[in-house]
Amino acid sequence: MMKTSLAFIVFLLWVVAITFSPLACGDVCSKEQTRALLEIRNSTNGFAFAGWDGRDCCLAPGIWCANGTVMRIDLVEAPSNITWYPNVTLFILFDDLEGLNLNNMQIGGGLEPFCQLKRLKRLSFLDLDYNRLDGIIPSCLGMIENIEGFFLSNNRLYGNLPPSMFSKQSKIADFDVSNNQLDGVLSFSTFANASRLRYLDLSNNTDLEIETESPSWVPTFQLNTLILANCILNKKNGHVFPSFISSQVYLNWLDLSHNQIVGSIPCQLLFNTSIRVLSMTSNKIDGSLSFGCFANQTSSLRSFDISDNNVTELSNNKLSGTIQRSLTRNGIRGLEIFPHALITLHFGRRVLQTLPTRTITQQTAGCMT
Ligand SMILES: *[C@@H]1O[C@H](CO)[C@@H](O)[C@H](O)[C@H]1NC(C)=O
Ligand SMILES: *[C@@H]1O[C@H](CO)[C@@H](O)[C@H](O)[C@H]1NC(C)=O
Ligand SMILES: *[C@@H]1O[C@H](CO)[C@@H](O)[C@H](O)[C@H]1NC(C)=O
Ligand SMILES: *[C@@H]1O[C@H](CO)[C@@H](O)[C@H](O)[C@H]1NC(C)=O
Ligand SMILES: *[C@@H]1O[C@H](CO)[C@@H](O)[C@H](O)[C@H]1NC(C)=O
Ligand SMILES: *[C@@H]1O[C@H](CO)[C@@H](O)[C@H](O)[C@H]1NC(C)=O
Ligand SMILES: *[C@@H]1O[C@H](CO)[C@@H](O)[C@H](O)[C@H]1NC(C)=O
Ligand SMILES: *[C@@H]1O[C@H](CO)[C@@H](O)[C@H](O)[C@H]1NC(C)=O
Ligand SMILES: *[C@@H]1O[C@H](CO)[C@@H](O)[C@H](O)[C@H]1NC(C)=O
Repeated sequence: MMKTSLAFIVFLLWVVAITFSPLACGDVCSKEQTRALLEIRNSTNGFAFAGWDGRDCCLAPGIWCANGTVMRIDLVEAPSNITWYPNVTLFILFDDLEGLNLNNMQIGGGLEPFCQLKRLKRLSFLDLDYNRLDGIIPSCLGMIENIEGFFLSNNRLYGNLPPSMFSKQSKIADFDVSNNQLDGVLSFSTFANASRLRYLDLSNNTDLEIETESPSWVPTFQLNTLILANCILNKKNGHVFPSFISSQVYLNWLDLSHNQIVGSIPCQLLFNTSIRVLSMTSNKIDGSLSFGCFANQTSSLRSFDISDNNVTELSNNKLSGTIQRSLTRNGIRGLEIFPHALITLHFGRRVLQTLPTRTITQQTAGCMT
């Protein structure tokens, strides 16, 4: 009953708005859309669109209109004492929606209802980070055909990634499913044909085994960011460093920390990349640390974290007085190698910073804790 009467009032307001106020955007939202927003508000105990008078939807907080239509809905950070089970059907009434941001909205339940968003042909951005979503990632999400940015991090999702999300047709460029409970074996070949992929974060899925070496595959993408921290990397292939890295010429942030990668830093795999930030902390890298692989004047490396490994020259990375001297020597070598760079090197708990050539004196490097 109340639903009906409220809707009726809203309807009247809407009629008044379009009839008497030529400047009001009464024509942007239909009666159904306005009612949908009110229902969404109701379902969040008044949190969503708080303070909106129920008339011009373009004036509701979190609603972004352009070209005479609602293009984006942003609802973030609901109070943590509710769990929200949104009626996703209400969002698909906004045909032109390009972005839907529901970050940290305490959304509970599974992802299946979000498959309905496939009816939004322009939807390119969907942010569901920091919610309480659980269950698997259903393959029907792959049917949201124009999605470019897809964010699912910090939920309670388990299972594996459905390959259909990363088919040849996929337009996904940015994908983040870090800090979930994914499990099973994920072959990196799943991403092979997702040619637009450039940002990928699968980190902190501690039961997820990621295999980059087999079955064999050829990447069609060029990543700029790859974060695979704290997963189980290449267990079946002797915990080797992922070889496809050498094909990623635009890669500028690579985080493979907290894996069990063995061997020495594979210089040749880093030759073709433009890595600025490289974290290899907490692996089983051994041998002597060599700057040879960055011995290119064009190297863009700025931060290199090799702490908590077994780099012999640094004696388990525990810095003693002597080693500190050898670090300084390394720093000078670093300077010779990167004449224009400010580089931060992390060994153990110490941070060694080398300074640009212009400002160096005899004392070229210092240790900071
Ligand atoms: C708003 O929610 C209350 C219960 O929380 C319900 O009784 C009422 O019908 C809802 N109103 C609308 C317009 O959905
Ligand atoms: C508005 O529409 C025009 C023409 O269709 C388009 O070129 C423009 O990018 C649109 N603006 C936005 C913000 O989408
Ligand atoms: C949630 O917390 C807010 C303030 O933090 C309070 O106003 C509201 O009544 C609480 N809601 C429930 C359902 O406990
Ligand atoms: C969700 O919204 C749609 C459209 O208004 C409605 O038909 C449906 O009954 C709603 N579902 C639930 C579970 O409230
Ligand atoms: C990628 O495309 C190639 C060529 O069409 C096909 O053989 C392969 O199975 C595809 N891989 C995946 C994981 O979809
Ligand atoms: C992984 O989890 C740890 C501990 O919760 C956290 O400190 C770290 O920032 C997370 N890493 C990423 C890349 O999200
Ligand atoms: C670097 O790139 C070139 C051209 O793309 C390729 O031929 C070469 O094998 C690559 N080097 C490595 C070490 O991957
Ligand atoms: C150094 O950079 C040049 C130009 O980008 C490239 O042709 C060359 O292969 C690089 N050499 C090494 C060792 O990375
Ligand atoms: C570290 O490397 C040294 C020298 O290769 C080796 O003797 C030692 O066992 C290694 N330690 C670990 C924990 O792997």
